[in-house]
Amino acid sequence: MSAPTQPQFDPDLAREEAAGDPRQLVERREVGMSLEAPFYTSQEYYDLDIDAIFAKSWIFVANEAEIPDAGDYVTVTVGRYSIIVTRDDDENVRAYHNVCRHRGARIINDERGSVGRIVCGYHQWTYGMDGKLVFADSQAPDFDPSCFSLRGVHARSVGGLIFICISNDTPPDFDDFAATVEPYLAPHRLREAKVAKQIDLIEHGNWKLTVENNRECYHCGGHPELLSSYFPVYGFDLDDLPPRLVPARDRYVTAMAELVDKCETLSLPYAEIEELDTRPTGFRIDRVPLEKAGESFTPDGTAASKRLMADFPSPKLGRLGFHVQPNAWFHFMADHAITFSAIPIAPDQTLVRTTWLVHPDAVEGVDYDIDNLTSVWRATNEQDAGFVERAHQGLLSPAYIPGPYSPSEYQVEAFINWYIGRLRKHLAE
Ligand code: FES
Ligand code: FE
Repeated sequence: MSAPTQPQFDPDLAREEAAGDPRQLVERREVGMSLEAPFYTSQEYYDLDIDAIFAKSWIFVANEAEIPDAGDYVTVTVGRYSIIVTRDDDENVRAYHNVCRHRGARIINDERGSVGRIVCGYHQWTYGMDGKLVFADSQAPDFDPSCFSLRGVHARSVGGLIFICISNDTPPDFDDFAATVEPYLAPHRLREAKVAKQIDLIEHGNWKLTVENNRECYHCGGHPELLSSYFPVYGFDLDDLPPRLVPARDRYVTAMAELVDKCETLSLPYAEIEELDTRPTGFRIDRVPLEKAGESFTPDGTAASKRLMADFPSPKLGRLGFHVQPNAWFHFMADHAITFSAIPIAPDQTLVRTTWLVHPDAVEGVDYDIDNLTSVWRATNEQDAGFVERAHQGLLSPAYIPGPYSPSEYQVEAFINWYIGRLRKHLAE
């Protein structure tokens, strides 16, 4: 019997394939398989992603807790866009293009701060927090400031999570999305929370690799700290487990039943909703128990903050998990919350911003210790950055060809289905 043949690599064919334009590669995308390399490596596809995905979707960019008072702001860079996300004098969340209406200078260079008015650093044109031009020195008598307000960007807070949409062609399902998830988020009182810590990490890989990596736990053997928080059956079919995991399944089933009882008593929504690729604002939300003490993402599972996020009768509420296409994922526990956003910087670079939120009156060093609060996800993020870089490096080789998703990677496939659907819509417009 002859040995099975290995697929041979043909550099000429690879060159031909890599030259395919986006329309061709979108149309010939094979369901169940990873994407072809140009989606991850080429500048042309990166620019397409900014236009088709990041400018046309609702993207998560900040927490209300980052701008607690009127005049507080953060600036966010998305491709060629720079956006000011702020709170106006009536405490409403607003977003504006960071482009002066005089001669177009970038108005604010700082990543965050607090101002009474938005003042351009070039000739000091000055805008109110409502975006209206209130001062422009030495103008002609017929100059009408009302014609030169800042250009707005759609901004919405959902339970304290700030989403923006750059395009006026906003996905039509956002109201329904917000109404569905608000009841899950509201009990955690994120709007009143405070930022305990924020860490920016640059991953050396395409933004889709960052998100794909987040959407599966096939690689979770590489996360020893995180695995001590999750039941080891996470991601498995509970009815088809290897015998070694049966005791863990029994523990999990008991913990889940206890959690459901508690949620029913406290009127906390817990039912899983999974609409990852069936709507423009694809998302998934569910509440699951955690391992060990079951309270939080800490090395021993006990609450990291003694001061809980709200008046919960117990710190043991498992984890409310939430992720939203294209760029965000979240964990909400009784004692703290963690938000993650992925923002593309270049075809091979992605900013992952992680923010830990606690009760506004929780005191560092008294109610919580920063190292204990952040250690599990600091380690996990570093490990994930390594996986993403490894994936990107492999894709750079002309020998790369798409490979199959395993059943436990169905959420990766759902993300890619969603992504391809949005590209198709954009390319058809
Ligand atoms: Fe902003 Fe001139 S460009 S004031
Ligand atoms: Fe991971």
